[in-house]
Amino acid sequence: MSDSGARSGLRAGIAIAAFCTGAAAIYVFSGDAYLWFKALHIIAVIAWMAGLLYLPRLFIYHHDKMPGSETSETFKTMESRLYRFIMNPAMMIAWLFGLFIAWQGQWFSSGWLHLKLVALVALTLAHVYFGRAVRAFGRDERPLTSGRWRLLNEVPAALMIVIVIMAVLKPF
Ligand code: HEM
Repeated sequence: MSDSGARSGLRAGIAIAAFCTGAAAIYVFSGDAYLWFKALHIIAVIAWMAGLLYLPRLFIYHHDKMPGSETSETFKTMESRLYRFIMNPAMMIAWLFGLFIAWQGQWFSSGWLHLKLVALVALTLAHVYFGRAVRAFGRDERPLTSGRWRLLNEVPAALMIVIVIMAVLKPF
């Protein structure tokens, strides 16, 4: 790994540690940990979604670049750093706090959470699939066509609409 890659990794590790230490302090000292944890959940969700919406867009542009060219190498760095240092930690923190508030709020028997969890499993599968694509582009392969990536680009947005409607409106 390059020096700046190692520095980004260190910064991501420090951010996760700071997030978890802050959460532990809130749990111990705050009277209303639920709302604090929901806020941390939403912060992590924003970072995760930003990556899920942007990464396939990077694949679309990367797809047409000549393997080995300077632009293609720049895309490789952008994709791998976005995935490893933003999306992976953000996904873990979103799940961690999401499950915690589901348990604390006794939401596990609610229909809206069941549908939200189905959409979340699909979103997490998309995340894993994008990670495999990051590694394939890193080996100078060109998985799928750019038309397919344009289509896949819409999947996280569609799932996000279902997830947010379930979380906010709780229709059942
Ligand atoms: C990763 C797994 C996730 C779990 C287990 C989870 C679970 C939960 C739970 C139990 C709540 C509390 C509901 C309340 O207090 O009203 C909540 C709130 C929320 N979640 Fe998630 N969630 C997850 C991911 C996401 C994602 C990916 C998004 C957005 C795309 C999202 C958006 C929201 C929003 C906007 C709220 C606030 C709802 C409100 O207060 O009205 N969540 N989540």
